[in-house]
Amino acid sequence: MSEILIQGYRPLEGEIKIQGSKNSVLPMLAASILQQGILKFTNVPIIQDVLCMVGILESVGCCCQWEGNSLTVDGAGVCCAEIPQEDVGKMRSSILLMGPLLGRCGRAVTWQPGGCSIGSRPVDLHLRAFSRLGAEVWEDREGKIEASVNELQGNTIFFPFPSVGATENALLAAVLASGTTVIQGAAREPEVISLCQMLRQMGADIFGEGSERIIIRGVKELSGTTVAVVGDRIAAGTYLAAAAAAGGHVRILEAPWEFMQREIQIFRQLGARVEPVYGDGGRTAGIEFWMERRPGAISLSTSPYPGFPTDLQSPMLAVLSRAEGVSYLREKVFEARFKTAEELQKMGAQISVSGSQAEIRGCERLSGAVVKAWDLRGGAALAAAALAAKGETKIENCIHIERGYEDICRDIHLLGGKMEWVRK
Ligand code: EPZ
Repeated sequence: MSEILIQGYRPLEGEIKIQGSKNSVLPMLAASILQQGILKFTNVPIIQDVLCMVGILESVGCCCQWEGNSLTVDGAGVCCAEIPQEDVGKMRSSILLMGPLLGRCGRAVTWQPGGCSIGSRPVDLHLRAFSRLGAEVWEDREGKIEASVNELQGNTIFFPFPSVGATENALLAAVLASGTTVIQGAAREPEVISLCQMLRQMGADIFGEGSERIIIRGVKELSGTTVAVVGDRIAAGTYLAAAAAAGGHVRILEAPWEFMQREIQIFRQLGARVEPVYGDGGRTAGIEFWMERRPGAISLSTSPYPGFPTDLQSPMLAVLSRAEGVSYLREKVFEARFKTAEELQKMGAQISVSGSQAEIRGCERLSGAVVKAWDLRGGAALAAAALAAKGETKIENCIHIERGYEDICRDIHLLGGKMEWVRK
């Protein structure tokens, strides 16, 4: 079981280039199945979820080749429409392969991904989208899901909630359908935008991404392309939260400034100074961040983009655990995403959770402790709190953190923190 040791209570000082975005690259990799050419991805984060996705692509017949952080995927050999059950257990996002498998093969077989520590996470909206496009969908008592169709037919799909994954799956199925599909109530996340931009580069006919209404005119075939994965806004926000909790001055290069406006607004409310880093041609190339005082108390709700991202809710809990005063954090996306509060309490945090709201009584100082990661972003939040805490913290069960952060110890070390893997 992998563990991390952290010596806290010292301000951060340093600069990193942020990794490529996990939540952008996973649906883009799934899109490889839709074409029989070569897709080349650069700036790919080498993380467990990506390695698992590559394994699934190879199991359905793709050929994948790594070269550093670049990955090429040859989609010519796709011949199987079944996703191995053990892979589904390792990575919930395996559900994203259903749309492209339906588009390419007219059939897709996978398994209910099941819940995790942040909620039940059903896939009903995904399956409803496939049915709207003409597919027949079955689920058996063991949780096996099968969908099949002769030819996908464009239709209107309405999402009562802007599900990111269901929007991506609907897009991945609709691009090769015959006729026009309108997704009403679509997710507006940057990850949906980057997927649409890549699909358009491959020959798809899509417009409206970034709004709640996306229109897709089906095409006969798609071809390969080359795409650079955008910087990971959640990983960048995690490191800014660490600096907000521990204090200091950090620069996060390639953090997507334009997609982090709500987070920047909140960090400024906490008392941080946040400025863009400019690259050549005046484009924003990162974020510079200073925190010279204890954070101020705030009230905050998570919500779908462009609201405050649910994936930064746990790191924000860590920050507010040190705030001057009482803060309130409401989780409005997932129904059970406060498990990390129990671990933060072991470090002295005064958090009380009632339903979807946490009340956090900020304290001057947190103390190092032995704590456990229960999910990806919760584990990263414990690291942020540990960097602000006096003494040593050991985080257990860090396999969760490795799913989404390329090397959190490497990054925090470059930002001036003392953090090392005890066991990987
Ligand atoms: C994506 O998950 C992200 N994962 C999550 O990041 C992120 O928290 C989430 O979007 C919200 O932004 C990836 O992109 C790989 P949803 P996804 O469908 O698509 C309910 C991380 O830490 N729902 O937008 O699974 C669901 O239960 C991960 O990187 C249904 O009811 O999220 C939840 O309450 C964690 N039926 C809400 O919608 C469905 O069919 C949002 O889920 C689908 C979702």
